[in-house]
Amino acid sequence: MKKLLFLALLTLSVFGGASAQQLKSPDGKFLMNFSIQADGSPQYQLTYKGKLIIKPSKLGLELKDDAKSLLNDFVIADTKSSSFDESWKPVWGEVSTIRNHYNELAVTLDQKETNRRIVIRFRLYNEGLGFRYEFPTQKNLVYFTIKEEHSQFAMAGDHTAFWIVGDYDTQEYDYTTSKLSEIRGLSTKARTANVSQKGFSPTGVQTSLMMKTADGLYINLHEAALINYPCMHLNLDDKNMVFESWLTPDAQGNKGYVQAPDHTPWRTIMASDDAREILASKMIYNLNDPCKIEDTSWIKPVKYVGVWWEMITGKSSWSYTDDFPSIKIGQTDYSKAKPNGTHGATTANVKKYIDFAAENGFDAVLVEGWNIGWEDWFGHSKDFVFDFVTPYPDFNMKEIQAYAKSKGVKMIMHHETSGSVRNYERHLDTAYKYMKLNGYDAVKSGYVGDILPRGENHYSQWIVNHYQYAVEKAAEYKIMVNAHEAVRPTGIARTYPNLIGNESARGTEYQAFGGSKPNHVTILPFTRLQGGPMDYTPGIFEMDLSKISSSNHSYVNSTIANQLALYVTMYSPLQMAADLPENYRRFMDAFQFIKDVAVDWSDSKYVEAEPGQYITVARKAKKTGQWFLGSVNGEIARTSKIDLSFLEQGKKYIATIYADGKDADYKTNPQSYTIRN
Ligand code: NOJ
Ligand code: CA
Repeated sequence: MKKLLFLALLTLSVFGGASAQQLKSPDGKFLMNFSIQADGSPQYQLTYKGKLIIKPSKLGLELKDDAKSLLNDFVIADTKSSSFDESWKPVWGEVSTIRNHYNELAVTLDQKETNRRIVIRFRLYNEGLGFRYEFPTQKNLVYFTIKEEHSQFAMAGDHTAFWIVGDYDTQEYDYTTSKLSEIRGLSTKARTANVSQKGFSPTGVQTSLMMKTADGLYINLHEAALINYPCMHLNLDDKNMVFESWLTPDAQGNKGYVQAPDHTPWRTIMASDDAREILASKMIYNLNDPCKIEDTSWIKPVKYVGVWWEMITGKSSWSYTDDFPSIKIGQTDYSKAKPNGTHGATTANVKKYIDFAAENGFDAVLVEGWNIGWEDWFGHSKDFVFDFVTPYPDFNMKEIQAYAKSKGVKMIMHHETSGSVRNYERHLDTAYKYMKLNGYDAVKSGYVGDILPRGENHYSQWIVNHYQYAVEKAAEYKIMVNAHEAVRPTGIARTYPNLIGNESARGTEYQAFGGSKPNHVTILPFTRLQGGPMDYTPGIFEMDLSKISSSNHSYVNSTIANQLALYVTMYSPLQMAADLPENYRRFMDAFQFIKDVAVDWSDSKYVEAEPGQYITVARKAKKTGQWFLGSVNGEIARTSKIDLSFLEQGKKYIATIYADGKDADYKTNPQSYTIRN
């Protein structure tokens, strides 16, 4: 009798009992199975409409200096299922209300031998899965160092991927479209254009990674709520088509330092047979904490122009002087330095941009190269380059502040950190105070060059914490942040909506450094934009850059109409009209669209979408209720039939259509456009 009972119990625990768990999405389309293998390793799989998206894949973490890692010998100690359904209102966004609806499974795992416990929490949405590791308070797992995280994502086939190579220091790559099996062969070429070769892996890629299966499923891998942890890349075992997490190391080669209670960011898997659903998904935001800023009234979407494109194209310079090294910050009277005659951020020039902004209804003007240090920077990797509070002698801070105020225009500060993060942190409070004192409530920061302290990487835990610190500190000062070269966003703007922008991908500036593929903008919304808005800086009207600067031989691979569409297709609460005022003045009728387009929306409808090929989206302006529709295309011509059924029945609308002219061609005739009502 006793024996029989034992057998019955054992059967239960192997099949469907304590070691195997299931989770369904609210609409039932996704099914996640979790189980413990014979060696005690955790494993999950994911199906969508009955198709395998993630084949059985292992989960776990390898610890440093620790005989026993968190990889196997686990038993399920407890499981908890729950459901959540709530709507929230973002401060700015593509829609005015976001529904956060998921089913959750939290599996508590005990490693008996070490007397350690972890929790793996799964959240299954109608758009896909999020999971993370949690380390509850306990005696035998308090402080530990992660050698590597081993979260696997086993693909069910040799999918087509839209990828950029794994890199600890930059995301500013053109995308490659290839089969997963072709990544190895293409990655060296995909990488050559870039500077950093640290940690090169021939099958390493960055997230957000977009894929398409042979039978038309769209899959996206990314992460959400990257806080106090290194950024995750993915490494592909291209024999078995299994991706595995690959964390960014710090200068010591360590991946992450944890003190329980703590948890990792969410690892996310989205899937759909309709590409538009990937674009419309708010899952990444939903996996982040609700807003932590109490009064958000000061956070406002911004349309801006700037003293910027003229430096990027080489027409003018960031630096006031070329008198280096005789000039030294803190030791030299800059008024005695010899001006180089090409400085962009002069009081007179800034005033011209303020006038242009005021005339055309822009909210703000960004000025780069306003502060001393630029002459001392390029080519140098050193601790102290900028102090963020000392203008060049030809930039009159007070005069500009008064002028901008009189014209009803805000100024955007620029903080190029030169990658010297500790120097920036030392100056941060003073720099933010200085901004407020001079009427600035938004900053564009930047992290160009090797990170200091030496050996650090752009996406390690230490510097992820820095980016976060800069944003939270800014919130204390009611300052909005737009960080360039910072880690790719993972939905943190839900929690800190003063993070109104990031670059973290190849932006328009690369059009001035040799160009970007014409289909780049049909991939970014599927990849980079999944985690948050991008300061892409569109709006280039003069494609031949030798017309701006004789030293520039680059060409912008786009048309004017294509540039206009980006204000709608590349969602961001921060939009720049990046070209020079004189180029806009040549095409004022086309420029009208940039003047009119909204930057904050109550609703968005993805009308058509195919990664690498086209995206059409319609958005309803929060303030006016007007609809704006943008459509961008890659190189393959097509006829698009746009369904406008989202418009209100029985109401009359007038459409003003800005389109490529019949003879437009991005290479030979980019300025041909038509405007009709
Ligand atoms: C790179 C940024 O992306 C660009 O916008 C900026 O002008 C330069 N760094 C200089 O800080
Ligand atoms: Ca950049």
